Amino acid sequence: MEHTIEIDWQQIDYIIDKFNSDKESLLMILQDINEQYNFVPPECIPVLAQKLDVPKSLIYSVATFYKTISLEPRGKYIVHVCTGTACHVRGAEKIIDALEDNLQVKTEQTTEDGLFTLETVRCLGCCAAAPVIMVNKNMHAGLDRTSTLNIIEDYKKNAS
Ligand code: FES
Repeated sequence: MEHTIEIDWQQIDYIIDKFNSDKESLLMILQDINEQYNFVPPECIPVLAQKLDVPKSLIYSVATFYKTISLEPRGKYIVHVCTGTACHVRGAEKIIDALEDNLQVKTEQTTEDGLFTLETVRCLGCCAAAPVIMVNKNMHAGLDRTSTLNIIEDYKKNAS
């Protein structure tokens, strides 16, 4: 991937301090960092190993065990397309096609500029408003191709 991210080391220190540099809190520290960047940047691993006094291998095994933590760079915006039954019946495939075309990625991939990661998810719990997508924590419902692409344009504008 082309893009690089800038790590706010003060904030990483803040997260570590918040948990008193306690190795027992490794999972929560990783989750906080993941929340911040949508993944755990690899540069953080040696820093965590040193500050928490744990082997890097332990950090990798915790990070790979939990599905909510990613070691792969992910976009600023994670676009989850619901492919549950109700959304499938009401055109989730078309929404995925539109997003893949527009963003020039396949599902599970991140755009070159690091802005979007496209993922699928099983039922976001608002089937009556299908089809739905969730961008980070924001739900967008009752979509078609055009409204989906309008939403993506808004995120692009907000990011620029
Ligand atoms: S199937 Fe998509 S929200 Fe339930």
